Amino acid sequence: MTKKLTNPIKLRNGAVLNNRIVMSPMQTHSGMRNGFASEDTVAYYAARSQAAGMLITEFHYVSQNGGPSYVPGYPEQLAAYSDAHISGLTKIARALKKDGNKAILQIHHGGRAAIGQAISGQDVVAPSALDFPFLDYPVRALTDEEIRAIIIDFGQATKRAIAAGFDGVEIHGANHYLLQQFFSQWSNQRTDEWGGDLQKRMAFPLAVVKEVKRVVAEENAADFIVGYRISPDEIHGDNVGYTYQESTQLVAEIVKHDLDYIHLSLWGGYGSSPSGVDASYASLFKEVLDDQTKLLIVGGVFDEESADDAVAQYSDLIAVGRGTLVDPQFAKKIVAGNGAAILHEVSPETIDYVQWTPGLKEAFTREDSLGLPPLPGGESIRSLHTGRFDMYRKA
Ligand SMILES: Cc1cc2nc3c(=O)[nH]c(=O)nc-3n(C[C@H](O)[C@H](O)[C@H](O)COP(=O)(O)O)c2cc1C
Repeated sequence: MTKKLTNPIKLRNGAVLNNRIVMSPMQTHSGMRNGFASEDTVAYYAARSQAAGMLITEFHYVSQNGGPSYVPGYPEQLAAYSDAHISGLTKIARALKKDGNKAILQIHHGGRAAIGQAISGQDVVAPSALDFPFLDYPVRALTDEEIRAIIIDFGQATKRAIAAGFDGVEIHGANHYLLQQFFSQWSNQRTDEWGGDLQKRMAFPLAVVKEVKRVVAEENAADFIVGYRISPDEIHGDNVGYTYQESTQLVAEIVKHDLDYIHLSLWGGYGSSPSGVDASYASLFKEVLDDQTKLLIVGGVFDEESADDAVAQYSDLIAVGRGTLVDPQFAKKIVAGNGAAILHEVSPETIDYVQWTPGLKEAFTREDSLGLPPLPGGESIRSLHTGRFDMYRKA
């Protein structure tokens, strides 16, 4: 008898995943100028074609003013804002799909986090022009016309994903980027139709979802997967952007557009709960999903046991991020009945096996890891840092 974790699963729009393991989207620090994929990008993804049944790329910005988010000196974030990106996207899709697993393009707009815009002297845009204490550059409020253009850009990036051979897209509505900035009452202080009460703060994310689905229908992309990633709440001390009671209402509206899955970005672990609440985030969000929309959770899975526990107890699908950095053959080993052989930490001995991009290797060997979440064994590889991209140093 096969376990739930290794059972295939059929999504609403007909696509079948080979198993319940998903590779979480992760920036590869491998893009060239203007977000074009490099050979390093393609090699990294090719090495992960059996990491999971569904493989989500790193965030790709959909509008020229939506990125890049990167550290000066380091290879850039990838993009999907022009047709010129299609050839690189095609190489990534082929690399990910070569062993029969599904490839999903994560589509994104950084809003205030588009540091590359600031570096090149362009306006950095956001819902409202606030003085953010954590940014060392100013931001400008988007005009109504610009907001509508970005919505169209999400649709055009979806069209490019289809042309490139991806099996689906994931709308990045999490981690404080533009969609979340619109949903947050802290970041969005607009008084037009894009801001104000809860309904109005939902308007931008919902318009993006609608446009993406419209393009998928227009392109007749059968079985095309559409997912949405969300941070379940935004609470930083006294600053409350939104609570889970509000984001579950947003998700209830999103799933009316027939999405295949909702992806909860959980930094506190896949089984975590809102502060002071008994129920897990997973169970709170499961309640508002219809039976066709699958739930995907993430956080802290580095072995078969916890992946198994996540789908047995909490969710339809489990995403693995750093676990696939440490072992690119994560799902392959589990499917082969060899889960015990999964590597749980990085070390100098496994640095070739992990097949990171040079940018990731430099990032994870730095003392500050460029602010990336820590990797098990991370301390042991510090001596491998060469400094080749370190024109930027943290003060
Ligand atoms: C190197 C790195 C890059 C990341 N880049 C992205 C990204 O592009 N998009 C995104 O939604 N999340 C990104 N994340 C968050 C992961 O998808 C995931 O949610 C997080 O690492 C927690 O899962 P884990 O404990 O399995 O690593 C990134 C995480 C890491 C470690």
